[in-house]
Amino acid sequence: MAVTLRAKIAGTGSYVPERVLSNRDLEKMVETTDEWITTRTGIKERRIAHGETSADMAAKAAERALGNAGVSASEIELIVVGTVTPDMTFPSTACFVQSLLGIKAGVPAFDLSAACSGFLYALDVAEKYIISGVVKKALIIGVDRFSNIIDWTDRSTCVLFGDGAGAAVLSATRGKSGVLASNIHSDGRKWNLLYAPNPVRDTPFCKETGTDERESKEEPLPPYLAMSGNETFKVAVRTMVSSIKEALKAAKIRPEEVDLLIPHQANQRIIQATRQRLKLPEESVYMNLDKYGNTSAGSIPIALDEANREGRLKRGDVVLFVAFGGGLTWSSAAVRW
Ligand code: ACO
Repeated sequence: MAVTLRAKIAGTGSYVPERVLSNRDLEKMVETTDEWITTRTGIKERRIAHGETSADMAAKAAERALGNAGVSASEIELIVVGTVTPDMTFPSTACFVQSLLGIKAGVPAFDLSAACSGFLYALDVAEKYIISGVVKKALIIGVDRFSNIIDWTDRSTCVLFGDGAGAAVLSATRGKSGVLASNIHSDGRKWNLLYAPNPVRDTPFCKETGTDERESKEEPLPPYLAMSGNETFKVAVRTMVSSIKEALKAAKIRPEEVDLLIPHQANQRIIQATRQRLKLPEESVYMNLDKYGNTSAGSIPIALDEANREGRLKRGDVVLFVAFGGGLTWSSAAVRW
């Protein structure tokens, strides 16, 4: 009997900018307190990119993932980057990474737009290329630089986010390790819970184009991230729980068999509510949002890389990932390490 072809996570890497922005620093910028941010979110500090782009951060994380996997850039046959803050409308961040790492010409490279679910969307897509036998090694990256799209005078959003990138090398295997199940979902009807409009355009035609609430007939929306925090909170818990249940069912794994849950690092209270609904023990959940805030698509692969390098993942362990983000999008994957 043929042994199933799987996509194994062969190596991980991450990169966060050096510049730290603490809650105390934010107290000097907007009317907030370290106490409010800590109790409502769990975040203590975040990193801010300074003189480095999304592609720079992505390439650094990818280089570390290649090193961790013991795979050379010349072996990569596919590059998928989850990001909503590319450096340019085009080329894609993935193409810049291809160039920065010297990955050979002809290898397909593209970005996916799924906000905070970007890395798990990239994992899902690259896994399909691997299990269908089209590619043997893929580079998947999640990167975002939200400091560029945040209104730094809006206390309700600016305290939540940070910049960073994470990456993984996926490798075809016929062993037991690898992705056991993965799902991706979206609901465009709820786009207005969480969005970031394009920068304001000034053309002779832009004021004529508005036909619905996405773009006013009079004035375009401000180019900053906007969010309905409370509603997003509720939908996040609901979708993450259903997505995890779907992944566990497809992988034929019981919740008590999960060794580590690596959730999207948006808010400690969202993570705890999700964990409690699934009846998972506290120690089986990985959290590092105190150090980085919500790095959007960077969040899960940064946490994965830290967990990996801390020795939290042993061969044979069941690792569960779950994310939600603007779109709305949500996703989960179950992986045997
Ligand atoms: N400092 C002090 N007070 C603040 C701040 C702040 N930084 N921000 C808001 N407040 C105030 C509000 O003005 C409000 O005051 P009021 O009662 O006088 O009107 C009060 O605090 C309570 O505000 P709420 O919004 O009800 O606070 P809540 O407990 O819901 O926490 C939060 C807000 C942290 C944003 C929470 O709703 C949340 O985490 N939501 C999910 C957000 C999220 O995860 N987004 C990421 C999505 S992923 C992606 O794709 C980008």
